[in-house]
Amino acid sequence: MRDDIAHDKHAIAKSFGNAAKSYDNVAGLQQRVGNVLLGFVRDSMSRESAPKVLDLGCGTGYVMSQLVDDSELMFALDIAEGMLGVAKFGMSENGKANKSIHYICADAEAIPLKENSVDLVVSNFAIQWCPDRQVLLEEIARVLVPGGRFVFSMPGADTLHELKTSWQQADPSHTHVNQFCEMDELATDVQHSPLQIEVLQSQVEIMRYNKLQELTHELKALGAHNVTDGRARQLTGKNTLKRLVSAYDEFRDIEGMLPATWNVIYGVFVNQKNTVEGSG
Ligand SMILES: C[S@@+](CC[C@H](N)C(=O)[O-])C[C@H]1O[C@@H](n2cnc3c(N)ncnc32)[C@H](O)[C@@H]1O
Repeated sequence: MRDDIAHDKHAIAKSFGNAAKSYDNVAGLQQRVGNVLLGFVRDSMSRESAPKVLDLGCGTGYVMSQLVDDSELMFALDIAEGMLGVAKFGMSENGKANKSIHYICADAEAIPLKENSVDLVVSNFAIQWCPDRQVLLEEIARVLVPGGRFVFSMPGADTLHELKTSWQQADPSHTHVNQFCEMDELATDVQHSPLQIEVLQSQVEIMRYNKLQELTHELKALGAHNVTDGRARQLTGKNTLKRLVSAYDEFRDIEGMLPATWNVIYGVFVNQKNTVEGSG
């Protein structure tokens, strides 16, 4: 189902492109989540020797760099040209420039690959930026071979709830924090696609900061700041920022730190497309 709040893909590509050079310095959580994801990926890869792999929203290439040695062919797809540039540079720095990697600047909802072209699709913290999950899941099923797996992580609904609540108090007329989907909504969407759930689970990660500015700077350096339709188009005023800081202060924990919750969803979906077609 399409997310209520539309995403502006041009703004997303620009935001991540601008953040490409700072991303790795602040992507500690994304890399930790990526490591958990790689555990699921390795289980899936053990069924297939030297698979063809697509990394959807590959960013600076953290996940793909760890899979490329065991893959026959790697497709690194991202909507932001700047991210692909950094990923390519990283591969050559790591002596992996000669590997079979195709870099593709494209939208995950319109993958420019033929049907049945990959054995595995991986995606770490990227598909939350795709507003039409049904289209996305259909695309993934189309490019995956029958029986192939889609292994992913994404932030779920409760993510950054402290920031969301604080902004609602400080500036109720604008949406300041991206909307993330519930795991149940995702499970319903999968039922209407050729994919079948093998694993779907979530885990809470709490980041802690001394000052709110540290969190907002980090989100900016990740390129993950707000791109929702209801966002404010002008700079935020001083008084609004003061209200925001004091609302967020209410969340300080017993050690005086500001928490930021990330609800991380992990999933492994199997492509059943032939079964579905054959059963009709
Ligand atoms: C939070 S970063 C994650 C990057 C990387 N997977 C990692 O583990 O660090 C999200 C990435 O998704 C990309 N992205 C966002 N929307 C996309 C879309 N519709 N199609 C393809 N890539 C997209 C962004 O450009 C960005 O590189």
